[in-house]
Amino acid sequence: MKYTAKNIVLTGFMGTGKTEVGRELSRILDMDLIDIDTEIEAGQGMKITDIFGTLGEQRFREIESEMISKIGEMENVIISTGGGAVLREENMAVLREKGMIFCLSAAPATILKRTSGNSDRPLLNVEDPLARIRDLLEFRRPFYEKAGTLIDTEAKTPIRIAEEIAGIFRCRR
Ligand code: S3P
Repeated sequence: MKYTAKNIVLTGFMGTGKTEVGRELSRILDMDLIDIDTEIEAGQGMKITDIFGTLGEQRFREIESEMISKIGEMENVIISTGGGAVLREENMAVLREKGMIFCLSAAPATILKRTSGNSDRPLLNVEDPLARIRDLLEFRRPFYEKAGTLIDTEAKTPIRIAEEIAGIFRCRR
């Protein structure tokens, strides 16, 4: 059965499992998954790291907002955003119009474990990624807290998290 009324939006810090949870949700609810970063990379013909490296973070944020306002128009989809999308209220306003927003969370050490070993996150390509994670989380905490329903991902599998979100979505939509 297709859900027609609303989108599901997954946000939260890097390494909180948005993409994997999105895939499970897509399977459980039979809704397409749209990943904003993947769409940006396809649109720009560049990897996120290269966009940061050549155009800078500010330009990336503009491109990200443009993509969010386009994708936010879609219906019956699961939208997975980059971890910084919450920083602009305009992004969240667009996503909120048609979507139920879930914000995934995890502890800094867990985030470090989940993100280490791949270098495709420019903000974490620093000498002390744990300190960077803590600093960014501290600054962003209020943005994540007000973004939507908080989902703690500690010690849970992506399937379990997806089932939790699907349950909330089914009864609140
Ligand atoms: C970012 C998160 C990344 C990506 C970019 C910036 C952020 O997405 O959009 O590197 O500012 O938190 P993921 O959260 O999917 O890793």
